[in-house]
Amino acid sequence: MSMTFNVQHHERLDSTNDAVRQLAAAGAPHGTVVHADEQTAGRGRFGRAWYSPPGNLYLSVLLRLDCPVSATPELGFVTALTVADAVDALLPKQIKSTLKWPNDVLVDDGKIAGILVEQVDAAQIIGVGLNVLEAPRNAPYKTATLVGAGGIATVDGARDLLLESLAKHLDAWLEHGFAPIRAAWLARAHPIGTSLRASIGGRTEEGLFAGLDEDGAMLLDTPDGRKRIVAAEVGGAPP
Ligand code: BTN
Repeated sequence: MSMTFNVQHHERLDSTNDAVRQLAAAGAPHGTVVHADEQTAGRGRFGRAWYSPPGNLYLSVLLRLDCPVSATPELGFVTALTVADAVDALLPKQIKSTLKWPNDVLVDDGKIAGILVEQVDAAQIIGVGLNVLEAPRNAPYKTATLVGAGGIATVDGARDLLLESLAKHLDAWLEHGFAPIRAAWLARAHPIGTSLRASIGGRTEEGLFAGLDEDGAMLLDTPDGRKRIVAAEVGGAPP
C-alpha cells in the first residue's frame, strides 16, 4: 500500500502540528499534510519553541494507522530515516547526515532537522522542521542548514522529496516491522560506545551509548549499570 498525500499550504500558521491536530479532530483523512512557510508558535520537544522564520520547511502529516500508542516512538525513528534520506539527496554526494537519539538529524554535527511525533486519540501527527536556509543563532547546540552545507534546495523541493521518502519508509515499517528500521537507524547514529550525556528533567545521566532497546529506548551504560532512557535531551559528554 503506497500512500498519497494531500498537501494544504499556508503562508503563516501558529504551528503545523496544531493545525493538523484540529483537522484530525474534524475528521481529516490519513495522508493529510499541512505545510507552512512560517510558524508563529512552532513547537519543539519538551514544550520548547521551534525557530520558524520563512526559508525553512515546516510540515506536519496526519496518519491514521491502526497501531498501539506504544508504537508511536517507532514512528519517530521512521521519520528520522525519512528526513536523513531526503537531506542526503539534497546535499553534495560526499556529505552524509547522521542521527542522534531519539530523532535528530545532523549534518557535520549540527542539527538540521527536528521531529515531533504526537499521538492524538487514534491518529498520529508527524511534525518535521527542516532548516533549508535559516538556523537559530543562539541555539544551545550546533545547528546546520541545507544551503549552508552546500545543498541545492528549495523548500518545496525538500517537501516533495521528504514526502516521497516518508511513503517509502512507512511502507517498509508497516511491512517488515521495527527491527530493520532500528538497524538502519543504528547504522547512521553515534556508534555504540560513544560517550553521551542524557538530561532528563533536571537530572543528567552520563554513560556510554549501548544501543537501542527493542522499542527504541536508548540503552546507556552508566557507572551504576545499564539504564533504559525513554525521553531525554542527549549531547556529547564533556571529556
Ligand atoms: C525538536 O524539538 O527537535 C522537534 C522540532 C519539531 C518542529 C516541527 S516544525 C513543523 C511542526 N510544527 C511544530 O510546531 N513543530 C513541528
